[in-house]
Amino acid sequence: MRSATESPNASLDGTVAAPGEKSETGVSRRSFLATGVAAGVGVGLAPFGRAASALADRPASSKLSKGDAAILRFLAAAEILETDFWQQYNELGGIQDSEVPGGSGSPTYTAALEVLDEDMPQYIHDNTEDEFTHFTFLNAYLESRGADAVDLKEFATLPSSKATGAQQIGRLTNLMQLTVDTSWWTRYRSHTKNPDLGDSFAQAVPGLAKGEHPAIPRTDADLKPEAHIQAIANTAGFHFATIEQGGTSLYPSVAQRVRDAEALRVVLSIGPTEAMHFQTWQDKAGNAPALTDPETGLEFPNLKESSNEELKANLIMPEPAPFLRRSLPIVSIVRPTNTQGIAMGVVEFLTEMGLFKGQSKGFFEALKELARQADAARPRG
Ligand SMILES: [Fe+2]
Ligand SMILES: [Fe+2]
Repeated sequence: MRSATESPNASLDGTVAAPGEKSETGVSRRSFLATGVAAGVGVGLAPFGRAASALADRPASSKLSKGDAAILRFLAAAEILETDFWQQYNELGGIQDSEVPGGSGSPTYTAALEVLDEDMPQYIHDNTEDEFTHFTFLNAYLESRGADAVDLKEFATLPSSKATGAQQIGRLTNLMQLTVDTSWWTRYRSHTKNPDLGDSFAQAVPGLAKGEHPAIPRTDADLKPEAHIQAIANTAGFHFATIEQGGTSLYPSVAQRVRDAEALRVVLSIGPTEAMHFQTWQDKAGNAPALTDPETGLEFPNLKESSNEELKANLIMPEPAPFLRRSLPIVSIVRPTNTQGIAMGVVEFLTEMGLFKGQSKGFFEALKELARQADAARPRG
């Protein structure tokens, strides 16, 4: 095996592409080739595992291992996608300023969001800014450690909302046909169940988990009647938390397979900010007024007054739950955190949500390839 310092372009196993070596999809061509050869989880990585642990205390100038680079690249892609849709929310319902430019706001949609909390526009702005910094940092960090950054710009082809206030630009994500899984609500309120132990969970808003629902006004026609735009704002309120609880699980799940100490520090430092977002959004989602959308029949139940512990709005702290083995005492934890197949699981989760409705075959191929490479990174221990 070559040493990492032998040549500026050489990686330990020769599979981490040199910076700038990008394919047309923005994903490293060499990484695609390498995966094609080493198909299957862990194949071809055996000798690399030992060398990677030896890298842990090397200065940050050393090249990232193939597995660590793949994990960080998948995270960068996820953050780019988050930024894309948070940007759409901010244009219509956030604060458009020099920190998060673009759009000019929809006063009616913004007012409906403010029913959940008067500071919603500020929170939307700040969450958008956070995601922007997440992907920008991850990409810069990847390049600083000799790995490829991720660029999905060529896939920004989906239409913008036609409502007044939105920019008319190509998007990566679609917020106008969402199916929102709200089972995190009961998952974090259950004392007895954990998805990592095979348990399943009831929806907080069953109507959102089926059909297609806009989370932003599609045109100005969506701005009335009042209960219709409120249902759209309520949908957004639950979607915010659905997304951020996903991020809250994603980071600890991938962290278990990051080997380089500094790369692990990056993952462990970004991840909890997703939990801060989630915590805020689940509190606000609980303020979504009970109503029935007169246009679609979508129903939002009164969670504030629910007598069911697993639905009660004010139980926003994670209830202790079983973890690892049911024989151990229950503990307040993030769940799920199973590391196996997590990246592809996230791709499926976002796809089933309808976030990529209308996206090209090339987009799904590029995203799945990034996920496959991340999931192929060998676990510790
Ligand atoms: Fe993020
Ligand atoms: Fe996030």
